[in-house]
Amino acid sequence: MRYDVTVIGSGPGGYVAAIRCAQLGFKTAIVERYSTLGGTCLNVGCIPSKALLDSSEHFYNAKNHFKEHGINLSNLKTDLKQMISRKDGVVKQTVDGINFLMKKNKIDVHHGHGSFINKNQIKVKSDDGKETTLETDKVIIATGSKPATLPFIKLDKKRIITSTEALNLKEIPKHLIVIGGGVIGVEIGSVYARLGAKVSVVEFLDGLIPTMDKTMGKELQKVLKKSGFEYYFKHKVTEVKSSGKEVTIKAENQKDETIELKGDYCLVSIGRRPYTDNLDLENAGVKVDDKGRVEVNDQLQTSVDNIYAIGDVIKGAMLAHKAEEEGIFVAETLAGQKPHVNYLLIPGVVYTWPEVASVGYTEEQLKENGTSYKSGSFPFKASGRARASMDTDGLIKVLSHKETDEILGVHMIGPRAADMIAEAVVAMEYRASAEDIARMSHAHPTFTESFKEACLAATDNRAIHL
Ligand code: FAD
Ligand code: NAI
Repeated sequence: MRYDVTVIGSGPGGYVAAIRCAQLGFKTAIVERYSTLGGTCLNVGCIPSKALLDSSEHFYNAKNHFKEHGINLSNLKTDLKQMISRKDGVVKQTVDGINFLMKKNKIDVHHGHGSFINKNQIKVKSDDGKETTLETDKVIIATGSKPATLPFIKLDKKRIITSTEALNLKEIPKHLIVIGGGVIGVEIGSVYARLGAKVSVVEFLDGLIPTMDKTMGKELQKVLKKSGFEYYFKHKVTEVKSSGKEVTIKAENQKDETIELKGDYCLVSIGRRPYTDNLDLENAGVKVDDKGRVEVNDQLQTSVDNIYAIGDVIKGAMLAHKAEEEGIFVAETLAGQKPHVNYLLIPGVVYTWPEVASVGYTEEQLKENGTSYKSGSFPFKASGRARASMDTDGLIKVLSHKETDEILGVHMIGPRAADMIAEAVVAMEYRASAEDIARMSHAHPTFTESFKEACLAATDNRAIHL
């Protein structure tokens, strides 16, 4: 079989690249080793985690907030089996949607493990051992990532688990120990904390979500504490053992003191590694860097001229929408267009409640770069809309250039921050000043008014409702 473009991997990077290639007139194939399309994001990542976050949030609100709203419920109980089964239904609908999109765009789907025979031939080995060779002009590697672990941790996938197993537990943990207070740690930790688990986070650095603006981590820490989180920051895990029923972990702080925690489950969420296992990159001459990521230039072209790579398997943030943008970028580059990805403006979102969302530079980065900036913040407790919905935790912080007032970074923790960050992305893409936003009408009462108020605060310390 002969193709103009063969995409290896059907995650948000791969399937979006394949659709755009097909739209641009390329005869396109996609190779996927799993039985369903959609990759990590649709099967064991973004979509199932958000489904469980939504279900657990309903339960938490029913238990803790409904009474104040004047709604009395008795006999409130969780049904984890039903929650997981609803989540599976959401995943099924979503991955089925990708099958439909492949058909609609006349993309050939080859199920099986793909590997390079050489730079123009891909071998696809299906589960039943059948081998097919695809002849191809161009290749896009979109093989994604897998959970990272530590050499001394034996992931038994029953008690010592990754996010994949955590999305399919049969019982609510009594005590979930989470190694790594990054995005997965706080999202999956939130699911089970809301359902009643005690959640202990052991984090190597000095706070939660440490790569985001520090104010966000500090606020999130305060809020999650109320729902049953406890933290061991600046602790390095040294031992993780399972007895089959109980997990024991040991960690050292910076004074070399050791703590021991016992729980019934341990979630290892210390990042993800690029996945190129058995891809036989060397047969095509594709180079990887010292972190195992496929090396690419500014055109996302690998060390071999007809082979490109996108998404989690290359450098940069491991985010679905980053992978998607790169998929479009490569397809349009192959068609001779001049696309562009603005990496600074790829937003980051954490789907806890309150949600955390951010775009542009953090305050720490601006300080480190020596950029002169102003900062304006607005707390949700001063928002009428937030009081009405009882979502008063959190704030929006706007960082703008001291002389030009151009917005350089927006960091929010609060209700619907995941959706509200889009306004900040548009503003920054068009290089708006904080005052530009401050002078635009925002519907009342909405959470978005808080962004306007934070911009007013950044402009000249002239927030109205503060
Ligand atoms: P992947 O989605 O990993 O897809 C790669 C695909 O390639 C897989 O299907 C794999 O089976 C296939 N493959 C690999 N090797 C081969 C081979 N040799 N032959 C054939 N097929 C192969 N990101 C967000 O932006 N928002 C979120 O809310 C979010 N939530 C997440 C929650 C969790 C629990 C996790 C784990 C991740 C989450 N992410 C989120 C990250 C997101 O899932 C990834 O950034 C995204 O899936 C990367 O897309 P990709 O296309 O590069 O790779
Ligand atoms: P992460 O990089 O977000 O967090 C890992 C955390 O583990 C860091 O805070 C790090 O300091 C800590 N850590 C590393 N080694 C440690 C050790 N030995 N002991 C204790 N702590 C240690 O990675 P995470 O949470 O595993 O997520 C993986 C990827 O998936 C992320 O890059 C993220 O972008 C993506 N993702 C995105 C989501 C979203 O966009 N909402 C949701 C979930 C995942």
